[in-house]
Amino acid sequence: MPISAPEPLNDLHDLSQFTSGKPSLDNWLKQRALSNHRKGFTAVTVVHDAGRVVGYYGLAPTAIIPTAMPRAIRTGQPPDPVPCLLLGQLATDTAWAGQGIGTGLVKHALERCVAAATLVGGRTLVVNAVDGDAADFWARRGFVPSKDDPMILFRSITDIAVSITSASS
Ligand SMILES: CC(C)(COP(=O)(O)OP(=O)(O)OC[C@H]1O[C@@H](n2cnc3c(N)ncnc32)[C@H](O)[C@@H]1OP(=O)(O)O)[C@@H](O)C(=O)NCCC(=O)NCCS
Repeated sequence: MPISAPEPLNDLHDLSQFTSGKPSLDNWLKQRALSNHRKGFTAVTVVHDAGRVVGYYGLAPTAIIPTAMPRAIRTGQPPDPVPCLLLGQLATDTAWAGQGIGTGLVKHALERCVAAATLVGGRTLVVNAVDGDAADFWARRGFVPSKDDPMILFRSITDIAVSITSASS
């Protein structure tokens, strides 16, 4: 059976076998994701193989103090804090690694962020890198680290929107 299209997490999804190799992301999915999704803290999107979740990401609104942001994103006279979107979690099960699932989830998340920011605002997407390899993964996708914490990276929604438009034209 092919991997599903991305869809919102629900209680029929099987999370029990999910292993990304990063315990914090595995435990969050198994213990927190459904509750956080239901309460509106985080919108969790999954892809699955016959119900077994093999990849997921979590998106949430957030707000960041301007001085923590890269200067190119802060620009002008921003409100304090700056309304932003947060991609707090992204992981693929190791048994499905290297098949483009992570890339597909990132693309889906970026499109969602542009659509959401068009409706309600949001200057930048913020990502939490789980480790140095993850920070490199985001840097290869145009994200710039915070001055204060190299594990927190930013890419402006404007920049993301331009990249999506040019990729589809
Ligand atoms: C990062 C991650 C989501 C990629 O998932 P994936 O489904 O394997 O991704 P893709 O097949 O689309 O490949 C994406 C990248 O992962 C690399 N990759 C794929 N399989 C890999 C493997 N077995 N080992 C190391 N890197 C691998 C690819 O080379 C590619 O690199 P790129 O940045 O140069 O494009 C996944 O490796 C993962 O869950 N890692 C642990 C959690 C994590 O680091 N999350 C990222 C942000 S916190």
